[in-house]
Amino acid sequence: MTVTDPHAPALRLEGVRKVYPMADGEVVALERADLTVDRGEIVALVGPSGSGKTTLCSIAGGILRASGGTIVVGGDDISGYSPKQLTAFRRRAVGFVFQTVNLVPFLTARENLLVVDEIGARTGAPARARADQLLEELGLADRAKNLPSQLSGGQRQRVAIGRALMNDPTLVLFDEPTSALDSKLGRQVMELIRSEMTARGIAAIVVTHDERITAFADRTVHISDGVLDA
Ligand SMILES: Nc1ncnc2c1ncn2[C@@H]1O[C@H](COP(=O)(O)OP(=O)(O)OP(=O)(O)O)[C@@H](O)[C@H]1O
Ligand SMILES: [Mg+2]
Repeated sequence: MTVTDPHAPALRLEGVRKVYPMADGEVVALERADLTVDRGEIVALVGPSGSGKTTLCSIAGGILRASGGTIVVGGDDISGYSPKQLTAFRRRAVGFVFQTVNLVPFLTARENLLVVDEIGARTGAPARARADQLLEELGLADRAKNLPSQLSGGQRQRVAIGRALMNDPTLVLFDEPTSALDSKLGRQVMELIRSEMTARGIAAIVVTHDERITAFADRTVHISDGVLDA
């Protein structure tokens, strides 16, 4: 098991490239991306559709292998990790909140949080205590036994945030977390992300098309045709 350096930035990308091979030629989705995100920092990632935002998040979170470059998360260089090492890394160090919330439909809110720890390090009573603490902080204590279909859109979004925080990650990747929400709920979700990240010293990248959302970030990075403006 890798010991992560507590003083290293949450994320460091250096010269990261991603090329998708296609039958009729290749798609360059990311071109020599350099990006450093400090511990506890929230970076908004803004760019048009198809510019490479999801690709960048997927690579930073170890879901997708880069075609080249260096990816260091919390001092942990994952660039050369095998699929098995990447799986362990993801459980240990990152959280994901996708646009389509992806909760398990037949599990309650609380069980959706506990799923993470059944496959992760913490199990049993400590996991249940952690899930209950998060649900409380997210204002969902009285909805813990509801199925996703019995929750509002914003509540489902908060369950997904809770699930992403279950493993005390170094970095949480939000891919358009507010796009399905109206502007009031979107603002509430962003305020929640802001306070949770600050309280826990967790870094985040928040992908958004919505420039209003960037007000909640420490910094905004623009991406266009796979090129970061940083
Ligand atoms: N699996 C894939 N195979 C081939 N090309 C892909 C694949 N995934 C993405 N692409 C291409 O890579 C580019 C970047 O895609 P990506 O999904 O990162 O964009 P995005 O900025 O997240 O867009 P959106 O805002 O629409 O979600 C696009 O041109 C896309 O068509
Ligand atoms: Mg995307």
